[in-house]
Amino acid sequence: MTAPAPSDKAFVPFVSVQNMMRLVHHIGIERVLTELTDVIEDDFRRWPLFDKTPRVASHSREGVIELMPTSDGEIYSFKYVNGHPKNMAQGLQTVTAFGLLAEVETGYPVLLTEMTLLTALRTAATSAMAARHLAPKGATTMAMIGNGAQAEFQALAIKAVLGITHLRLFDIDPTATEKTIRNLSASGLHLTACETAQSAVEGAQIITTCTADKQNATILSDNMVGAGIHINAIGGDCPGKTELHSDILSRVDTFVEFPPQTRIEGEIQQMPADYPVTELWQVVNGDILGRRDQRQITLFDSVGFAIEDFSALRYVRERVRGTTFYQPVDLIADPDDPRDLFGMLQRARD
Ligand SMILES: NC(=O)c1ccc[n+]([C@@H]2O[C@H](COP(=O)([O-])OP(=O)(O)OC[C@H]3O[C@@H](n4cnc5c(N)ncnc54)[C@H](O)[C@@H]3O)[C@@H](O)[C@H]2O)c1
Repeated sequence: MTAPAPSDKAFVPFVSVQNMMRLVHHIGIERVLTELTDVIEDDFRRWPLFDKTPRVASHSREGVIELMPTSDGEIYSFKYVNGHPKNMAQGLQTVTAFGLLAEVETGYPVLLTEMTLLTALRTAATSAMAARHLAPKGATTMAMIGNGAQAEFQALAIKAVLGITHLRLFDIDPTATEKTIRNLSASGLHLTACETAQSAVEGAQIITTCTADKQNATILSDNMVGAGIHINAIGGDCPGKTELHSDILSRVDTFVEFPPQTRIEGEIQQMPADYPVTELWQVVNGDILGRRDQRQITLFDSVGFAIEDFSALRYVRERVRGTTFYQPVDLIADPDDPRDLFGMLQRARD
């Protein structure tokens, strides 16, 4: 008797780092960032539909390892991600990640993918989506403080979606700024390396803070933030890890992803529990006005939420369909008779 053919559900499409890189170049990075911005925005519009929970974090002295699950009722996703600012000194990255999509109906996975690159892309696309609603109209210049792994992605997303033309860069390590300038030299952005954070913010309408330090740092102090600015604060995303002086928070309008998570992890962990915030999804779906006028100071207190990873995963699933940018991996055991898992084990006996 011949064994039944393996179920097609046994083989899960796997997108390796190599294939993710090929996919991004095949589509074009600015197009990926623009499309991802729209996919994330679509999912923010249907926000109430999703399961939502603050991410499950395992903290250590060195860093954090987090699991980020969500579901829209049809598809389930999770991301594994770490944050270890000390890694860089050993030649390792601060943030690495991988993730999975599964169908809710059977619980079977439908995509497994690298997410270190994808996290940088989705974080940048989320910044662009927020800035589209919050940045002053006609913004031309962004200050980029912290020129590490995320920096180029943030710059290109804001360029692709908002059309900025000038980038002013600062990092405490000048070699990080040199690296970012080298990587963005063909981007069409006018690039200026600055000696201090204070000089980087001069003339900028958007300030992105994207530093990594496991402490309450003061990357921006109150005197550095004038009227009409949008602050895109990426790096404060863990308990005890913030970038803005609390005086800034007292005079800005703050927009967040999921308040129960942001109050633990974001800049607003420095503020009382009743500090007023607006949920970004309500701005996206038109319930609440984002920017009221050109003088308002807005803050996107970004920490990264599971729904953004869900959007990124479903985008990749769509984009690799019918291409060579994935490999089928036999991730799921597939006994001929579903109750005969032990019998299946015997297939591999010598
Ligand atoms: N909000 C989100 O969704 C999200 C997603 C991914 C990463 N992050 C966070 O973004 C931050 C940046 O991530 P990364 O992968 O680019 O890290 P990275 O370690 O590659 O780069 C961080 C850079 O910040 C610089 N820096 C540190 N302190 C500074 C200071 N006081 N002033 C100026 N520059 C300073 C470092 O020299 C380094 O070049 C991290 O804190 C990370 O946890 C947030």
